[in-house]
Amino acid sequence: MGPSPTFDQFGTSPTPDRGGKRSNPDFRLHITPLHFFFPLRFPIQRKLKLAQVHKQRKAKRKKLFISRVLAMATNTQDQQSQAGRHQEVGHKSLLQSDALYQYILETSVYPREPEPMKELRKLTAKHPWNLMTTSADEGQFLNMLLKLINAKNTMEIGVYTGYSLLATALAIPDDGKILAMDVNRENYELGLPVIQKAGVAHKIDFKEGPALPVLDQLVEDEKNHGSFDFIFVDADKDNYLNYHKRLIELVKVGGLIGYDNTLWNGSVVAPPDAPLRKYVRYYRDFVMELNKALAVDPRIEICMLPVGDGITLCRRVK
Ligand SMILES: C[S@@+](CC[C@H](N)C(=O)[O-])C[C@H]1O[C@@H](n2cnc3c(N)ncnc32)[C@H](O)[C@@H]1O
Repeated sequence: MGPSPTFDQFGTSPTPDRGGKRSNPDFRLHITPLHFFFPLRFPIQRKLKLAQVHKQRKAKRKKLFISRVLAMATNTQDQQSQAGRHQEVGHKSLLQSDALYQYILETSVYPREPEPMKELRKLTAKHPWNLMTTSADEGQFLNMLLKLINAKNTMEIGVYTGYSLLATALAIPDDGKILAMDVNRENYELGLPVIQKAGVAHKIDFKEGPALPVLDQLVEDEKNHGSFDFIFVDADKDNYLNYHKRLIELVKVGGLIGYDNTLWNGSVVAPPDAPLRKYVRYYRDFVMELNKALAVDPRIEICMLPVGDGITLCRRVK
């Protein structure tokens, strides 16, 4: 809004006359009926103008108030839809805009998602622990990555219903292999019919039970050293450093290890007193410790990507 109108602008200045028409004696002589109207017209005009300005200011205040209320409502809506999305796909995107994440899914992920992956994703969505599944955009990323590095011999720790496993199985050649481990066979078997229908089950060697003893066994045998092209770790975060100690022996020089959830729901930057879900708080320190350790490990080159819940790619260099 510009400066407030002065009385002068309304032609009714109470300030001393500055020699205008009204102080001109000649002008005063020519009295017409209009001159009876003028003394009245000025106050009315002034009142009308003032009322108009008042109305404009009131409308502006109202607009400001409405926009603040709307902003508050949108914020709440955002938080609610964030919570809704978290229920739908877990903390599977760190993007601050749900609309942008949805755009990525709808524009480039879902239209190109292989039919079996779509089926497995929909089946998993009905499972009570669906929060654990790898997101569709991360599945697409893994699939592309595996093709780019021509991965053939691979490993996965943490299978759940098998979404990332299927993304891997579809990417590697027909004689490719995946050593897949999970403490829970039941969930793997939920997705298995879809994997079988996709014609890739023969590539998978599923081992039920904790991964660490299996890795110890593998490390014991020298012929397994440097034998894996790609290893995806998506399981118990408190063991990631223990896995890393073994996996670095098992992945080939030039091969990749992908550690999932390295941004851990964004909690890695949360203040100490932030209200975090119990499991998020519990694993946060382990994730942060892993991130620090990977950052200074001279045996690898790393790249932390904000895909899904954060994935750190480690390329073994020695
Ligand atoms: C986040 S989910 C894996 C999601 C999976 N990558 C997908 O695409 O859906 C984590 C999995 O790790 C498994 N897990 C937890 N602790 C484990 C361990 N010590 N060894 C092997 N698997 C483990 C859990 O049973 C669970 O299925």
